Amino acid sequence: MAEEVLASDILIAPSVLPADFARLGEECIGLEKAGADRIHWDVMDGRFVPNLTFGPDVIASIRPLVSLPFEAHLMVEEPHELAPRYAEAGCELLTVHAEACPHLHRTLGAIRELGMEAGVALNPATPASAVAHVLDLCRLVLVMTVNPGWGGQSYIAAMESKVAEVRAMIDDGGHDVELEVDGGIGRSTIGAAAKAGAGVFVAGSAVFSDELGFNHAIGELREAAAQH
Ligand code: DX5
Ligand code: ZN
Repeated sequence: MAEEVLASDILIAPSVLPADFARLGEECIGLEKAGADRIHWDVMDGRFVPNLTFGPDVIASIRPLVSLPFEAHLMVEEPHELAPRYAEAGCELLTVHAEACPHLHRTLGAIRELGMEAGVALNPATPASAVAHVLDLCRLVLVMTVNPGWGGQSYIAAMESKVAEVRAMIDDGGHDVELEVDGGIGRSTIGAAAKAGAGVFVAGSAVFSDELGFNHAIGELREAAAQH
């Protein structure tokens, strides 16, 4: 039976996709001051998804400015090729898409050998069973609640059943694995995702569009997630 996610276990991982790239360092420092639990870097190669975003050098330039853990969400065609560069850039957690890894088990092992924690992301059409045989290698499973490539999209509520499925796989197998959701997470959607079993929440638009600032946005998200 899936266990309740406690308020104290809720982690907020702002995506810096919507950040002002002319002030990226200041924005990351602000997120740390506002109580974010980690920085979520949406890395896109223009092939796996149409958009093109952060190379390892950009992340490396921010690394000395904040002490928060960095999670790189690799929405790229050949993540195993790029993994060493994101390790060197200072990422503690590297999340690869199951859809981009014909040898997922080997890729996750390679990420761990580089000294990083490994995560697996599942696109909306990919079943939870895709991670059934690699949970022992994972620190995190990311259930995408939008189709990857852009921020500001609408939350796909149909993914809640997949979240619950992955939560049951983690709990029934006694795995120490975080369950993260990414895409369309805001005040009105985070509660349902938490109720389904998610414990880590990526939010871009909900954090950067809050007129009352990062503190308010992150506090509201934590509160809404805990109230589910
Ligand atoms: C999609 C990205 C986005 C981003 C968050 O490829 O992964 O989901 O992190 O976007 P928002 O929170 O704006 O939906
Ligand atoms: Zn992401």
